[in-house]
Amino acid sequence: MHPGTSSTINVGVIGCGYWGPNLIRNFHEIPGARVPVVADLREDRLAHIKTMYPEVAITSDYRELLSPSVDAVIVATGVSSHYELARACLLHGKHVLVEKPLTTRSREAAELVELAERQSRILMVGHTFEYNPAVELLRDLVQSGEIGDVYYVNASRLNLGIFQKDINVVWDLAPHDISILLYVLGRQPMSVSARGSHFVQPGIHDVAYLTLHFPDHIFAHVHVSWLDPCKMRRITVVGSKKMVVYDDVESLEKIRIYDKGVNVLPHTDTFGDFQLSYRYGDISVPYIPLTEPLKIECTHFVECIREGKRPRSDGVAGFNVVRILEVAEKSLLNGGMAELLNGHARVEL
Ligand SMILES: NC(=O)c1ccc[n+]([C@@H]2O[C@H](COP(=O)([O-])OP(=O)(O)OC[C@H]3O[C@@H](n4cnc5c(N)ncnc54)[C@H](O)[C@@H]3O)[C@@H](O)[C@H]2O)c1
Repeated sequence: MHPGTSSTINVGVIGCGYWGPNLIRNFHEIPGARVPVVADLREDRLAHIKTMYPEVAITSDYRELLSPSVDAVIVATGVSSHYELARACLLHGKHVLVEKPLTTRSREAAELVELAERQSRILMVGHTFEYNPAVELLRDLVQSGEIGDVYYVNASRLNLGIFQKDINVVWDLAPHDISILLYVLGRQPMSVSARGSHFVQPGIHDVAYLTLHFPDHIFAHVHVSWLDPCKMRRITVVGSKKMVVYDDVESLEKIRIYDKGVNVLPHTDTFGDFQLSYRYGDISVPYIPLTEPLKIECTHFVECIREGKRPRSDGVAGFNVVRILEVAEKSLLNGGMAELLNGHARVEL
């Protein structure tokens, strides 16, 4: 067991709004973990948690979670408070799981990574889709070479709402797709550009199109919107050998592998002889276990604390997503100018 942890991991949760109760439920159910105390500024949210879990202590002051009896803290508040809360928890020697996106600034994300290292504590970010068995399969298909060279990726995350008041749609929805792209492709983008508009709330973009250029001539397009009639969470990966569609709205058949493609026939002498051959093969739908991704994520956090392991979605993964969001926002405000990124996953203070 990692030094400084008791046999049961006591997990405090800050933020009991929409997402926090899902985290509370999961940590409540994981053997070897318990939720002794939760915090929220809103009395109605605390009362809701008390109704569901009468044994859990409630407080409006998150500092009560910094007591020695708490081993780890989950930060499930809005992004503007992530840095301050996570920093306080790390300074008090807590392991910390921060919801996505890790912070509003890459500099703050880098500081948290460095602080966690210094304190020898786990810093993990809630990139839930990295724990989704369908995304895991998509990654295997890409990284095993089964779909050949990746040509491009198209991601759409659309719905009507939920409109946020303090962040735009890029900071709200794109962290999911960006974390999936980095995880599945195993690469960092070299440049990012973004275009979008704000129709409902002045100054807060509600629709955006991001383009990310990766090494090996791979490019990815991410469309995020709070202003669309249809709920869509779909990622298409087009490779030289096969094409894959991951549809997260589908309950059972989330991944479809299309053995489709197009080849340029060799041995043509002139432009007139130029021939393409289209391949229409089978469509396969692999079995994917129906495990809740958030349960896998929360279990992984507890395992990392117990075994002193680096989380899959560690602080550096959180930093990498934040720096992409940061330059995407810059591009969005500059009319879609491409912004360059250092191609390496690294943290610069
Ligand atoms: N991983 C996922 O799939 C997923 C899904 C939804 C939301 N999220 C993330 O979860 C986080 C919370 O989102 P939400 O939709 O639940 O927001 P929300 O506004 O519904 O809830 C946030 C709660 O935090 C409380 N809060 C804010 N500052 C606080 C403080 N200093 N001390 C105590 N409580 C405080 C608020 O009162 C509120 O009840 C965000 O970072 C969001 O991006 C992640």
